[in-house]
Amino acid sequence: MNDFIEEAEERNAPPEEQVHSRYICTANHGFAPYAQEELRRLFGAVKSTLLLPGEIFIATLQHKPEEVNRLLLQQLPIFLRHIQPIEFQDEGSLAGLERLAVYLSRRSELEGLKVSLHVRKSGDSFWQESPGELREWLQEHLGSLSAEFTVHDPAWVISVYADGNALYAGVSRPEHNLSSWNGGAIRFRKEDGQISRAKFKLMEAEKEFDIPFYSFKNAVDIGASPGGWTSFLLERGLKVTAVDPALMHPSLRNAPGLKILRKNAGEVKFRENEFDLLVCDMSWSPKLMAKLVTGLLHSLSPGGTAIITVKLMHKKPLALIKELIAMFEGERMQIQRAKQLFHNRDEITLYMIKY
Ligand SMILES: C[S@@+](CC[C@H](N)C(=O)[O-])C[C@H]1O[C@@H](n2cnc3c(N)ncnc32)[C@H](O)[C@@H]1O
Repeated sequence: MNDFIEEAEERNAPPEEQVHSRYICTANHGFAPYAQEELRRLFGAVKSTLLLPGEIFIATLQHKPEEVNRLLLQQLPIFLRHIQPIEFQDEGSLAGLERLAVYLSRRSELEGLKVSLHVRKSGDSFWQESPGELREWLQEHLGSLSAEFTVHDPAWVISVYADGNALYAGVSRPEHNLSSWNGGAIRFRKEDGQISRAKFKLMEAEKEFDIPFYSFKNAVDIGASPGGWTSFLLERGLKVTAVDPALMHPSLRNAPGLKILRKNAGEVKFRENEFDLLVCDMSWSPKLMAKLVTGLLHSLSPGGTAIITVKLMHKKPLALIKELIAMFEGERMQIQRAKQLFHNRDEITLYMIKY
């Protein structure tokens, strides 16, 4: 219904105002509707076409690309994990791919610079092999382009999406993709003896928010068991106080620098400014979590950092997040970022600094 109205609005606009730009947008599975809502709030009318239900969609915005980039960076979205421009579209076939190679070879701004080639495909893609093989095929066919293909620190990103019977591609600066990983999906290798997958969330927060964990000294980890986050903080050289009524993993029980309090977070008492880092991954009712955490914020020194996961049990996550942010802001916490990380499931991560 909405799409129908929006299309009608487009048709009525005078020709000089019909500015369009198109994007492939990605969110965590099930959260595409919230990413669409974020775009709607930023850009007004948005026409959406699903590529992968709940996760990947094409958005047509009535804004110029520069304006889209500016507004997105000014107000970083929570659920829109990754965005890539569609500047080239063709049929999904070898002939389409050959035309894409010609098109990209003519993008002179790429000449002599470091370029990442990100390739994704849908489950029913015309391209039967792996995305990696498609990347290799394209790289071989871009021989005339004297770009340096790289994974790290590219000046430009070429993003290609091979759908069922269509091929989409675009070229962008990495910061305009909202994430420097292909589709915003950062993957870490599971370490030997890794205590929990939860550790990946803090590893991702470190990279995504550029958090200098090595610079902190004394952390409190609320809801710490079995100890993935605690082990990460110990590895970064911090002293850690772990609070959880549940048992910590045996490998942590005598770890140097670790104090374990087998208690409910509502029962612990800390001194003023005892910690310069507070982390909480309690996976609990968000409002009760916020109440418990705000009750402990006196122990975080001014300038200290807090990283908290917020479970989204609610039907209206955007309203819930707004309410929680207001609660923390009322406690002298400045929000640095609120984002659903790739490793967050039904939750988001809040990164805050106390003033
Ligand atoms: C998702 S797990 C935490 C995983 C942990 N971050 C890791 O990396 O291994 C959530 C933990 O929160 C704890 N928890 C829930 N409510 C709590 C409370 N009121 N006080 C302290 N811990 C609590 C649970 O016992 C559970 O161990």
